Amino acid sequence: MPSDAILRIEDKEYKLPVIVGTEGERAIDCRNLRANTGHITFDEGYGNTGSCESQVTFIDGEAGILRYRGYPIEQLAEKSDFVETAYLVMHGELPTPSQRQRFSAYLRENADMHRGLYRLLEEFPPDSHPMAVLSAAMNALGCYYPHLCTNNHERDLQNYEEASAVAVSKVRTLTAMSYRLSKGLALVHPKRNLTYCENFLHMMFSEPYYDFIPEPEVVRALNLILLLHADHEQNCSTSTVRMVASSGANLFASVSAGISALWGPLHGGANMAVIDMLEQIHAAGDDGSRFIEAAKNGKARLMGFGHRVYKNYDPRAKIIGRACDSVLAKLGRKDPLLDIARHLEQAALKDSYFVERKLYPNVDFYSGIIMRAIGIPLNMFTVMFAIGRMPGWIANWREIASTSKARIYRPRQIYTGAVKRDYIATNQR
Ligand code: ACO
Repeated sequence: MPSDAILRIEDKEYKLPVIVGTEGERAIDCRNLRANTGHITFDEGYGNTGSCESQVTFIDGEAGILRYRGYPIEQLAEKSDFVETAYLVMHGELPTPSQRQRFSAYLRENADMHRGLYRLLEEFPPDSHPMAVLSAAMNALGCYYPHLCTNNHERDLQNYEEASAVAVSKVRTLTAMSYRLSKGLALVHPKRNLTYCENFLHMMFSEPYYDFIPEPEVVRALNLILLLHADHEQNCSTSTVRMVASSGANLFASVSAGISALWGPLHGGANMAVIDMLEQIHAAGDDGSRFIEAAKNGKARLMGFGHRVYKNYDPRAKIIGRACDSVLAKLGRKDPLLDIARHLEQAALKDSYFVERKLYPNVDFYSGIIMRAIGIPLNMFTVMFAIGRMPGWIANWREIASTSKARIYRPRQIYTGAVKRDYIATNQR
């Protein structure tokens, strides 16, 4: 049993229980701190705050370890695919053959969309950002499945199998359809005989008069990218999903909020920012050295580098970095941005600024290079992340929804505004 922590405030001592996770992570339980001491904790950015107990994903940022439901990410990347991993993340176990079949059938049956959703997508201006469209469309999706989103968690959980499959299947279709509508292309409906990733590529790149048949390497690369994004414990978007879910909100409303949180350049938006950065470096004729100097002087930020939790290599970056070479080689392509990225990485890993701050490449550093190689347009990189992350958001929604004593997420604050003052009439101001 871990010993209690002792907190001394002025001349009084308080015992705070220490709790330990299954991987030995230790936390000081502050749940009764305010009631017992009148104090709250202050942890802007939540870097030291455990907001929940969770069984989905384990990360050891110091050691560069990532596991979904106990399975190392390296093993899943090598042996699994996105659909199987999505099932694992959402349901807690790898599927048996019949569970996999049932899940695939659900995904297939839910691949197409109600006409109303097409009309909704059509109304957005063609240059709308795909993340804005996807967030709106995922929330609107609930309107077409009222029995799956009653905002009564007990009832919503009874339909979890269907709701989770609808969300995973539709996020891909909504993404592909909004791309085609933004380009003024004819809509291409999903096919029943294609796998999840094949169907996505088909809806993106086929035409009514021509079937796009992707190289197997492209399908594998897409599976890998999505699988590596499937969950990442309490990051900004997942915490947002849990925050929204904690009010009792349904699955579609909660994941829609997650998509909005993911959009920012410090989170999922970094994968687009990395390519922008590499293109700028390329256009300036720099090999990255000048950019590194600018980052050290605070004049630039090396996008795709650094992570709140990883103080070592992000294991996903290692896997994607290796895959970049093999995917480009198999597709017979060269990408000058990959050379710049490699040079930036090598230079940063030797530079004391990055070494001292433990800044390593994160998942976004190389993922854009693979997405470019498989033909995904730059402004869609972050929605690809959202497709991949959907299982993790769903699993976290479920944890909140199924915790009988779950409390609404409601942090406190330290107020630093004006103290009490009296109202002044307009003519006296
Ligand atoms: N380039 C240059 N310096 C950096 C970078 C970077 N990418 N990241 C952190 N630093 C520096 C900070 O300036 C700070 O330096 P200081 O101590 O001299 O002030 C120090 O490293 C610590 O950085 P913080 O910003 O405090 O780290 P935090 O944990 O708050 O932020 C974050 C993490 C947001 C990921 C940050 O590293 C960053 O902005 N990286 C670039 C954006 C990015 O790649 N985001 C994707 C993250 S992964 C994901 O969401 C999928």
